[in-house]
Amino acid sequence: MRKPIIAGNWKMYKTLEEGEELVNLLKRQLYDVEDIDIVLCPPFTHLAYIADMLESSNILLGAQDMHWEEEGAYTGEISGPMLKCAGCKFVLIGHSERRQFFGETNESVNKKLASALNNGLTPIVCIGEDLKQREKGITFDLISQQLELGLKAIAPERLKEIIIAYEPVWAIGSGKVATSEQAQEVHRYIRDWLSKNYSSALAQETRIQYGGSVKPDNIAGLIAQEDIDGALVGGASLDADSFSAIVRESKKG
Ligand code: PGA
Repeated sequence: MRKPIIAGNWKMYKTLEEGEELVNLLKRQLYDVEDIDIVLCPPFTHLAYIADMLESSNILLGAQDMHWEEEGAYTGEISGPMLKCAGCKFVLIGHSERRQFFGETNESVNKKLASALNNGLTPIVCIGEDLKQREKGITFDLISQQLELGLKAIAPERLKEIIIAYEPVWAIGSGKVATSEQAQEVHRYIRDWLSKNYSSALAQETRIQYGGSVKPDNIAGLIAQEDIDGALVGGASLDADSFSAIVRESKKG
């Protein structure tokens, strides 16, 4: 069975001091959780420090983005090897805010994905439609395009190392969560797409998270859906009680 994975995306929130306080609370509140992967994605500047704090805990570390080159003259960028030596196991790729505000494309997502895998990082690849696209009825076309271009030339045996996060852009930070049924419909579509383009066995092994206004009071309905394997949590991951409650509610079946 697929192990649920709950990731907290802190975005550009929390000073190091505030982050330290949050991590201490989470370690205390979640120390006994065993059957769920718990991941925190703080800002770059906090990674190495928080990696030390998380050592020998059940909480894993991820970054919010990366560059696809190993090194080079790319002022302001961070590479896969740098994330790896800062203690990261995961990296978000193609978050809708990167696509919307920083020119991320399916092509750059694809390059970052390959680099993450080459560097031993588990990529969490974010895809999803905006409100206009949903209203136009092109959600599935867009999802299949994001998958096709984003996963281009990724070898089948690497697929299960990749996590896909379905995040409808209209539900991010808006308080408008997709209903569990709306989310399940797209998750099922993604799994069917993986099955057609890779194999049904690989599709069954791949974890697909939902993201967009996940809160303690809506996670149970989402996680109960057959094809929802966890959540990528923004706002609610900034508060220890609400993130812990989401993790605890995320046991499958
Ligand atoms: P949100 O963010 O939970 O605040 O909607 C989710 C995300 O952007 O990953």
